[in-house]
Amino acid sequence: MAAVEEPAGKVEPLDALRREVEACRLCPLHAPATQAVFGEGPRESDLMFVGEQPGDHEDLEGRPFVGPAGQVFDRALADAGIDRSKVYVTNAVKHFKFEMRGKRRVHSKPSEGEVAKCRFWLQREIALVKPKLIVALGATAALGLTGRRLAVTRDRGLVVPFNSISLLVTVHPSYLLRLPDQNAAEAEYGRFVEDLKAAQSWCG
Ligand code: URA
Repeated sequence: MAAVEEPAGKVEPLDALRREVEACRLCPLHAPATQAVFGEGPRESDLMFVGEQPGDHEDLEGRPFVGPAGQVFDRALADAGIDRSKVYVTNAVKHFKFEMRGKRRVHSKPSEGEVAKCRFWLQREIALVKPKLIVALGATAALGLTGRRLAVTRDRGLVVPFNSISLLVTVHPSYLLRLPDQNAAEAEYGRFVEDLKAAQSWCG
């Protein structure tokens, strides 16, 4: 049976944007990746979280923050009293960049050029979601948003004006996974939760 075409004008703007992102060929990262990972969450969320790029799990599932970093993120959101289904979660870069080590696909940091190319999509996502506050999870997210390298450990937790929106920068959840010392990891996790609480209370 022939596929039924959706009537023109009935496609949700975020779904239309997702389809454009899925067809993105602006940089070479699309080629080895399984798929583009678009943001998820309600349109017109007050709070938007921006991560770096999808990881191995996200690339396979097609959803942001569903792997190990996503588990830390989910726990911290819950500890901060934030319902993930009510916020918008996306990434600065929409394709997984990796290198092969044996059979393993290992995360590789996106270049400034790749982040800059993907800013086009992030800006359009922001224009549709219209958040009151954006939380940048780590330096690459901050770079994707502002075009500048920010000192995350110095500027974290502060709400600063960002175009007509506001921005709060904090660490990336995977940073918490890399801390070797248990006490330091717990203390840093606590600070991360406090940053998320600050973001939530700023939104009111
Ligand atoms: N790290 C990110 O920055 N984003 C994801 O979606 C997963 C891991």
